[in-house]
Amino acid sequence: MRFDVLTLFPGLFQGFVTESLMAKAVQRNLIDIRLHDFRLWSQDKHHKVDDRPFGGGPGMVLMADPVVRCVEAIQQEAPPGELILLTPQGERFNQRIAESLVRSPRLVLLCGRYEGFDQRVLDLLRPRELSLGDFVLNGGEVAAMAIIEATARLIPGVLGDERSAVDDSFSSGNRGLEFPHYTRPRDYRGLTVPEILFSGDHGRIQSWREEQARQRTKQRRADLWSTGSDEPSSNPTSAESDGTADGE
Ligand SMILES: C[S@@+](CC[C@H](N)C(=O)[O-])C[C@H]1O[C@@H](n2cnc3c(N)ncnc32)[C@H](O)[C@@H]1O
Repeated sequence: MRFDVLTLFPGLFQGFVTESLMAKAVQRNLIDIRLHDFRLWSQDKHHKVDDRPFGGGPGMVLMADPVVRCVEAIQQEAPPGELILLTPQGERFNQRIAESLVRSPRLVLLCGRYEGFDQRVLDLLRPRELSLGDFVLNGGEVAAMAIIEATARLIPGVLGDERSAVDDSFSSGNRGLEFPHYTRPRDYRGLTVPEILFSGDHGRIQSWREEQARQRTKQRRADLWSTGSDEPSSNPTSAESDGTADGE
């Protein structure tokens, strides 16, 4: 899967693409992350990409021309990418959206800065507008990284053990929260691991995990609890899962 990121600060992605699971996914050609500095698409001799807002007020606005020309140029390449613009005013990103985005062969992510984009970027390009949540970041880069990571980890082979993504909170089929995890030591400062996890009985362990997940979801996220039944949508925890991590 290919991700094209349009940003004024490509250097922010340096660690993101060279560390941990994202780096491994790049090395294995499971994902391809291309960074584009839309300053390079400015026709101004000083590579200016922002200007003061018409009507006055604080801050600077990203000019339409460098952004639109950059998008038009990279969209010449096949396959055309699904265009996503990061903005706190967009649809709230979640796991369901990540699960739909991973079906796309290519995403093009537009990261704003300052006061955001000239409205005509949105009017001309008609991107899907996505938000990370009801708070304001300095730029769209962190939001783009979150969307890339949440999407890429759903690609088969990106995680060390694909069952991790099946059991994860909010994942397809498990719209609730995941059960608690434990690892060595068995006793830490007097807090002991539940005995059932040493039973070797995968059926009972699965039932225990499902019950823990149900309780957590009910207590912490009543909004995820399906109405009319005592169940979240469903909760397929892996009976075989013995705590394999994401492969790091
Ligand atoms: C300082 S913000 C601009 C906020 C804008 N003036 C507003 O009030 O809607 C600069 C850029 O950060 C990004 N950004 C900020 N908060 C975000 C969020 N919650 N989700 C996604 N992107 C965000 C957007 O790309 C935005 O153009």
